[in-house]
Amino acid sequence: MTRQTRKRDHWGSRLGVVLAVAGSAVGLGNFIRFPGQVVLNGGGAFMIPYLISLLLVGIPLAASEWALGRFGGRNGARSQMGVFYLASGRKRCWGIVGGLMTIIPFAISMYYVFIEAWCVLYALQYLGGMFEPIGLGFSFFNDVDPGLRFDAPEEYMQFFNRMIGKYADGSLFRLSSSPLLLATVFCALGNMLLISRGIAGGIEKVCKFAAPLVLACSLLVIVRVVTLGNPTGIEGRGFLDGLGFMWNPTRDAFSSRGIVIGQTTLWESLKNPDVWLAATAQIFFTLSLCWCCITTYASYLRKRDDVALSSLSSTSINEFCEVVLGGLMTIPPVVMFLGQNAGVNFHSTYALGFSAMANVFGQTQCGQFVGLAFYLLLFTAAITTSVSLLQPTVALFQEVFQRSKESSAFIVGCANLVGTFFVCWFTKDLVALEICDFWISGVVMFVFAILQIFLVAFVWGVPAFRSELECGAQTRALNLVPKLVKYVSFPYMTIIIVFWFIKNVEKGYYEYQGNVVARYALAFFTVVAAALLLLSIIATAKWKRESKEATEGDATESNS
Ligand code: ALA
Repeated sequence: MTRQTRKRDHWGSRLGVVLAVAGSAVGLGNFIRFPGQVVLNGGGAFMIPYLISLLLVGIPLAASEWALGRFGGRNGARSQMGVFYLASGRKRCWGIVGGLMTIIPFAISMYYVFIEAWCVLYALQYLGGMFEPIGLGFSFFNDVDPGLRFDAPEEYMQFFNRMIGKYADGSLFRLSSSPLLLATVFCALGNMLLISRGIAGGIEKVCKFAAPLVLACSLLVIVRVVTLGNPTGIEGRGFLDGLGFMWNPTRDAFSSRGIVIGQTTLWESLKNPDVWLAATAQIFFTLSLCWCCITTYASYLRKRDDVALSSLSSTSINEFCEVVLGGLMTIPPVVMFLGQNAGVNFHSTYALGFSAMANVFGQTQCGQFVGLAFYLLLFTAAITTSVSLLQPTVALFQEVFQRSKESSAFIVGCANLVGTFFVCWFTKDLVALEICDFWISGVVMFVFAILQIFLVAFVWGVPAFRSELECGAQTRALNLVPKLVKYVSFPYMTIIIVFWFIKNVEKGYYEYQGNVVARYALAFFTVVAAALLLLSIIATAKWKRESKEATEGDATESNS
């Protein structure tokens, strides 16, 4: 039996695959990371590089991943490794690059699931009656009674920091503060279970259920935000001021004490490479580009499925959720309650989602219901992303060992849980999470991103990419994309990546040099990379052997 004739999983419907890819893309990045980046990088001034990066790299690269994935899938590949191997004309080195690249979703999943657990725990706390005395009357924390009200913004921050164990390593493993650990294990097991039910039976079903829930919760939060008026009564703190902050490219400049010290013009912002780096990184994060997720999902498409339309639809759904829903539900209330200099008061995007937003709900009428809707929405969006992060490794595992999806999901899920426990143990200043994020979704992701774009543009090539995109396409809207990838996305990304490395690697090196957690992380990632290398070597050798046998079989048939 050849790879092409082996029974494979497929998506149940076109809507299902679009929702699954959109579900993979729509996640915490849309509702927390994006607003955080907008606030930290100067509001409207950030949006111009953001939209340019979306056009120059986001849309073209997403289309290339859809096309690559379907091309590989219909030739028998199941994983990034197989897809790269086939797209490169059966070069083993490219297969190994694809296999190693699987470390990106695997490692991101280690901490993504931890953050997912924050969302579920916040949602449950709101259900139990956090911040208002009308919940079901339970709390998961000994020091937070149901109905307790916080008065100052710092109290929200302290609650959040205590919950995630930010004050001491290992604190989540003490009995009195273990709810978060339990929630993390619950999320990890949930992901495993969904993956083990397969593409149509697990992932597609959960994404079809999640999409309306995300939309309904978003609308509920937005209606509350829009009807807030000017809750503090301070001039310049109405809903339109909040919205203006997101779109107005000229803004007030603040000192570190939050005092206005002048104005920053659009040109000044555009000259700042940091803003471009942040905007491009956000596009990669939000679309899960070069994370192996789209390619793996697209490998389960059928030959005549329309990749151009599906790619455009899922990218548009993601951008709608990010810019319209995410932008509306978080940026205006943060500006309304905390002012235009809100970014000065918190230094991470997590603080925006779990401290500033909780503060907003705590000061709002019906805040408890809106808070419940907001964190339920975050949890739902996160789970459709986290399943997509495990699937590339599960697919690679299945490709190599031909094992059932249940056992592959179990083995990969357990290996991933070890990494998640590492992140859960070293929570002091969230150091393990920050290290994984910096090295994997920064350094490693950018290295593989440029390799992937190079593969698409120069090895697979523009004609092959174009014909794959056109096969079954009902729209010609993306016909120019293959050339765009070669002549625009590739040089643009080269410049961005060079800048990113100049700015970050030295900083990262000195920041983490001698840091014991960084050493453990390095050791763990080395083991994972070695395992992926081994899997890729075995798999590419199998591919070679199979194609040799097929060629010999053909030759024997034609001789006889
Ligand atoms: N694209 C995913 C998100 O935005 C990772 O959360």
